[in-house]
Amino acid sequence: MPSAPYDLSSGARADALANPTAREFLRNADPILARVIDAHPGFRPRAWIGELPALDAFGTLTFQIAGQQLSVRATRTILSRLEQHFGGHLPSPAELLAAGPHVPRASGLSIRKGATLRALAERFADGRLSDQALSRMTGDEIEAALTEVSGIGPWTAHGFLIFALDRPDVLLSGDLALRHAVQRLYRLDHLPNRARDGRARRALAALSQPRRQLPVRLRIRGRNLMNAIASDPVGIIGAGRLGQAMARTALRAGRPVVIASSRGPGSLTSVVSTLGKAVSAGTADQAAAARIVIIAVPWDQVPDALRGLEQNDQIVIDATNDWSADDLNGRTSSELVAGLVPGARVVKAGNTLGADVLGAEPQEAGGRRVIFVSGDDADAKSAVASLFQDAGFAATDLGNLATGGAMQQIHHPLAGLNLIRL
Ligand SMILES: NC(=O)c1ccc[n+]([C@@H]2O[C@H](COP(=O)([O-])OP(=O)(O)OC[C@H]3O[C@@H](n4cnc5c(N)ncnc54)[C@H](OP(=O)(O)O)[C@@H]3O)[C@@H](O)[C@H]2O)c1
Repeated sequence: MPSAPYDLSSGARADALANPTAREFLRNADPILARVIDAHPGFRPRAWIGELPALDAFGTLTFQIAGQQLSVRATRTILSRLEQHFGGHLPSPAELLAAGPHVPRASGLSIRKGATLRALAERFADGRLSDQALSRMTGDEIEAALTEVSGIGPWTAHGFLIFALDRPDVLLSGDLALRHAVQRLYRLDHLPNRARDGRARRALAALSQPRRQLPVRLRIRGRNLMNAIASDPVGIIGAGRLGQAMARTALRAGRPVVIASSRGPGSLTSVVSTLGKAVSAGTADQAAAARIVIIAVPWDQVPDALRGLEQNDQIVIDATNDWSADDLNGRTSSELVAGLVPGARVVKAGNTLGADVLGAEPQEAGGRRVIFVSGDDADAKSAVASLFQDAGFAATDLGNLATGGAMQQIHHPLAGLNLIRL
């Protein structure tokens, strides 16, 4: 029987409630995560590990390798077959090597996983890896040492850091169940990919914070309960009908909001209390400091509202309408807005629907409400489309500010059109 320096079934640790500091940190990071955490006050992050036998480093890695791309149930079946072969326990490295390649295969491991296990066993057998050495290494060193073995990638190495060594600040970003959880909670129409998908990258990056283990474990224990979040606030300048509707949209997308008006934060007490605790009243400067800033003021107030805006490449959503359009000189109104903030990226969105419709639940009649986005910067447009999609809308890209923006303007074809994409 292998030695068990990491007693993963330790009763005390398995029964421990989540660290209160970590819970609070994550509660404050995001309203959706706060709801998940609040719904599970008795959550014990390590309880599921208590259901496993005591495992040493090689045993934990055997569990991890067997479990790559498989459900926990399928993994347990394979491991119990492996245990049966070795007299009721998982093999030590020497036992696995002595048994030959057919044994893992007969237990249900793929040829590739069997080869990975043997390559790993060789490293433990010849002393390149050991429990003691691994427990002394940094996370990066462990990842480097383990991923040298063909078939062990970051997911397996990171899982080892969490399950065997209880190291904090480890994120299983490629974990399939975690990605499914992010997809469901963010209402993505595809599985997020950290490298390719900007929205998922932001969501997962938010977990790149101290104590990010907790949500991973929430997911594992709660079967996709976990949420990762973009806790970037959305700034809104203008707290009237449209500003409040946009605040509701941002909240639906799981984003906190800083909202401002011309009369200062003190005038917004009742607005903020109606919208809820993820919304705070701020000055226009504070709202303008957000990465996404929504302009929701009357058209004649736009220059004034934008005047103080510090321009540092933020995304400005122009949700305004120029009703008279006699000041445009052949340009679209959003091009004019873009001219007022040359250091920001303007996207026109949110102006074609009435505030009551815009602020209402966008999933309706079996479909999703269509929202139009136009802009000259593809990344900015994609960030705005993501915000609306996360809120449940079907975002539709109309092109640049000159052509798409024109179609969205008052008196043009898409103004006031309330469409549902089935
Ligand atoms: N209402 C709709 O259904 C709708 C739909 C689509 C688009 N829009 C567009 O959205 C914009 C806002 O319309 P609304 O109906 O929401 O107007 P609203 O109800 O009158 O609200 C206007 C808001 O803008 C604030 N504001 C005015 N000047 C400001 C300044 N210089 N700096 C900061 N904040 C300022 C006001 O603050 P104070 O109250 O403190 O002055 C107020 O909170 C308009 O361009 C409109 O065309 C509206």
